[in-house]
Amino acid sequence: MNENIQTALNEQIKSELYSAYFYLSASGYLDSMSLSGFARWMRMQSQEEVTHAMKFFDFMLDRGDRPILQAIDKPLADFQSPLDAFTQALQQERQVTSLIHHLYALTVQEKDYPAQVLLQWFISEQVEEERTVSKITEELKMAGNNSSTLLLLNNTLGSRAGNNATPAVGAAV
Ligand code: FEO
Repeated sequence: MNENIQTALNEQIKSELYSAYFYLSASGYLDSMSLSGFARWMRMQSQEEVTHAMKFFDFMLDRGDRPILQAIDKPLADFQSPLDAFTQALQQERQVTSLIHHLYALTVQEKDYPAQVLLQWFISEQVEEERTVSKITEELKMAGNNSSTLLLLNNTLGSRAGNNATPAVGAAV
């Protein structure tokens, strides 16, 4: 593959793994607050982010290029509340969406059609992920300081299936 695309893919692997690290950090915070449902949802999301990184990793290998792994930044760990954790998650997802879009633009410029097919999956995935996290964030805002509503939301999110699929928005909350 074109060298610029290889560099960008290596960076994208790093970003997806950073996302995994971030969600794991948030999961630890929420578990320490005895909010095991929110914590489980974040842990599942962390695992899903690893699968995203592996899609790029395997794609590079399939194209005959060796992924060069980059250093992963220390994840954010300063969370003030469940709402703050999900708000930071939404910011992270928006950042990843922006990176995916830039990467897609690069593959169009370089006429790398197989990479465009891969990235089209990610473009759709980001729409879903932003929508899901945004909806949870809005519901947390509505819950405010009402502990009953917060615990109900915690229980609902805790039912997230332990596979790699992001739950449909209606099923998530
Ligand atoms: Fe892999 Fe949540 O972006």
